[in-house]
Amino acid sequence: MPEATVAAQPGVREGAALLSVDDVSIQFGGLKALDGVSFDVRQGEILSLIGPNGAGKTTCFNVMTGVYQPTSGEVRFAGQPLGRRKRFAITRLGIARTFQNIRLFGNMTALENVLVGADAHHRTNILDALVRSPRHRREEREGEETAREVMEFLGLEKRADELARNLSYGDQRRLEIARAMATRPKLLCLDEPAAGFNPAEKEQLMELIRRIRDRGLTVLLIEHDMSLVMGVSDRVAVLEFGRKIAEGLPAEVRNDPAVIAAYLGTDADDEGES
Ligand SMILES: Nc1ncnc2c1ncn2[C@@H]1O[C@H](COP(=O)(O)OP(=O)(O)OP(=O)(O)O)[C@@H](O)[C@H]1O
Ligand SMILES: [Mg+2]
Repeated sequence: MPEATVAAQPGVREGAALLSVDDVSIQFGGLKALDGVSFDVRQGEILSLIGPNGAGKTTCFNVMTGVYQPTSGEVRFAGQPLGRRKRFAITRLGIARTFQNIRLFGNMTALENVLVGADAHHRTNILDALVRSPRHRREEREGEETAREVMEFLGLEKRADELARNLSYGDQRRLEIARAMATRPKLLCLDEPAAGFNPAEKEQLMELIRRIRDRGLTVLLIEHDMSLVMGVSDRVAVLEFGRKIAEGLPAEVRNDPAVIAAYLGTDADDEGES
């Protein structure tokens, strides 16, 4: 069992698996985007998923969040197989993500965008909403409290009433994180959150990721920027052509010949989006 081997390594941060990707493959036509990939995200850790462009990182997020069904293998969250659960059901279980390309509602305010995330747990139906039942009003109030608290955590409270499209690029990226956090996830998956950031912004993002973990969240990070990955991760898993080629502590992975070879001919600091 690969899990047992990793857990037995000395110095590895201990923690039960919150999410297990177990022998997952997914095929698009003739292309195996993921080919027998297994790894665990342990409770409370920051795990980075790295690899060259087209390695299958985003596809991995898509399989974990119900966008795609794996061709074979399974993903378990807190021990439960995700099965054929739909996206909203997976959000309710406690997995949230951001997207490689920003996906905000530009004509809604920043707060309204975050409220979309907070709504994920609402139990009321359209009838409750129409008659404004007490339960509906309570959920609305709680949703707004969550949204405002998360925006403050991300330093966006002053932007609450601005249209999302008028925010700076960095604030839009943070707003995406706020919307994901407003779903009150256990696992937060960030797909290239530093893309387009300058060194100072990357430094701030690293600090933010640590603060997110300190709130009790587990973080799975896809990132191309090696200094960020090496600086913030507890562990790193590496994909190449849909296969996992390495997993371990940042220093181990950085010196792994297979990883060095995978990055040869590619720019390891390339932050471009494909
Ligand atoms: N819906 C799809 N249909 C067909 N091919 C797809 C689909 N989604 C992903 N792929 C292919 O699967 C492979 C892995 O793509 P993926 O987006 O997961 O890579 P990535 O590791 O996130 O790369 P990048 O660093 O460039 O974002 C690529 O060859 C991509 O073209
Ligand atoms: Mg990607």
